[in-house]
Amino acid sequence: MIVEKTSETDRREFLRKISRAAALAASSPVLSTNAGAELSHIWPSVETDSNQPVHNLRNQFPLLKERVDGRPLVYLDNAATTQRPRPVLAAMTDFYAYENANPSKTLHSLARQSAAKYDRARDHVARFINAAGPEEVVFTRGTTEAINLVARSWGEANLRAGDEILLTVAEHYSNLVPWQLAARRAGATLRVLDISDTGHLRLDQLDKLLSKRTKIVTFPHVSNVLGAINPAKEICERAHRAGAVALVDAAQSVPHFPVDVQELGCDFLAFSGHKMCGPMGIGVLCARRELLEAMPPFQGGSNMAHEVEIESVPDFAEGGLKFEAGTPNVPGAVGLAAAIAFLQSLDRKALWTREQELTRYALSKLQKIRGSRILGPTKSQERMSVFSFVIENRRPLDVATSLDRAGIAVRAGDLASLPLLKRLATEAAVRASCYIYTTKDDIDKLVAGLEEISGVAN
Ligand SMILES: Cc1ncc(COP(=O)(O)O)c(C=O)c1O
Repeated sequence: MIVEKTSETDRREFLRKISRAAALAASSPVLSTNAGAELSHIWPSVETDSNQPVHNLRNQFPLLKERVDGRPLVYLDNAATTQRPRPVLAAMTDFYAYENANPSKTLHSLARQSAAKYDRARDHVARFINAAGPEEVVFTRGTTEAINLVARSWGEANLRAGDEILLTVAEHYSNLVPWQLAARRAGATLRVLDISDTGHLRLDQLDKLLSKRTKIVTFPHVSNVLGAINPAKEICERAHRAGAVALVDAAQSVPHFPVDVQELGCDFLAFSGHKMCGPMGIGVLCARRELLEAMPPFQGGSNMAHEVEIESVPDFAEGGLKFEAGTPNVPGAVGLAAAIAFLQSLDRKALWTREQELTRYALSKLQKIRGSRILGPTKSQERMSVFSFVIENRRPLDVATSLDRAGIAVRAGDLASLPLLKRLATEAAVRASCYIYTTKDDIDKLVAGLEEISGVAN
């Protein structure tokens, strides 16, 4: 394991510091557009120059040792999905091998054990993001389903003709299409917050867009294209001042740095397990309890309703369970809890400092590729290690295909964010994205591949 286990006290102290960072970000006009800088300012610098510790960490991930057509895999598609470490794989295999049962709190032993595991996973998630309690956590299939749940259920109860939904031009389709559909159902209108040419949200335009008609403000905590870290606490506060609720798409932030929902002050927050070493098919919606209680069910079925008769509308289950119709994804929740435990066993301060260093390194190298244009902020403190770029006269898909031949896995295309790409004068881009196990060596191989493609090599 790369870094020593942190004690519970250290973890709490760390969370407290992060919370303070978020509060400062909201109150300082300088920092408010620069949440990333604030995070790196608060976290002390640690010695990370050597690749040695990360090699130990990589040993936990069997897939990183795979070869592609005989070449070692260079996995740089982590914003799409990360790889899983052995403890997560073991937790899921063990569940199926020794503990599998459809959960029930009152039936046979295995069923009770399965129910207890599911409950424990919910507790674990709640503590990880500092939710007020496990009843604020809804297990979903992922970020996409979490957002659809809000758009459907909260939208049905709260959106009316003439209302406005405020989102940004930087949304992933998962936080755009559900709102387009909700707006169409209700006769509401979408209002769109722009970005600057450097990829920062135009917060100077926020107050002009907010009005009494605004019912919800939603935005990505971190852009899946630009890597830009948005000042979530400030945006939530400004949404609340206008009388709106705030939903944070945290698919790209929760995997990288601690997120405290109470400190952010958001009403809804969504993320996916598979982007943080957990399984596919499990994600989380965290929602304020009063909001969840007032929302109608998203889907109907067993577990969310009991003692149902043909003629009577049932009483629904409380908390997250009301939104989890049918047999739950217990192995997914168990795997997600194992992923959280795995991340918590690492020194996340050190990981973040390493990520910042890797970001600086990658930016400086990628900027030198002939004809390259990197999308998003170029200051490492304002962003994470997600690098989307275009290369003059090279089609992004061709670039990705050439890299693949060298064993380098990147993503290319519209990145589920066409409006953002169009705003930045392109319709497709290549995206290389890192995670806790990415090394400078991976970046060097990417850069060598790109130099060849752009015609610098040979
Ligand atoms: C910012 C953002 N939001 C939402 C999603 C959708 O996540 P999922 O496909 O896990 O539901 C993604 C996935 O890439 C994302 O990057």
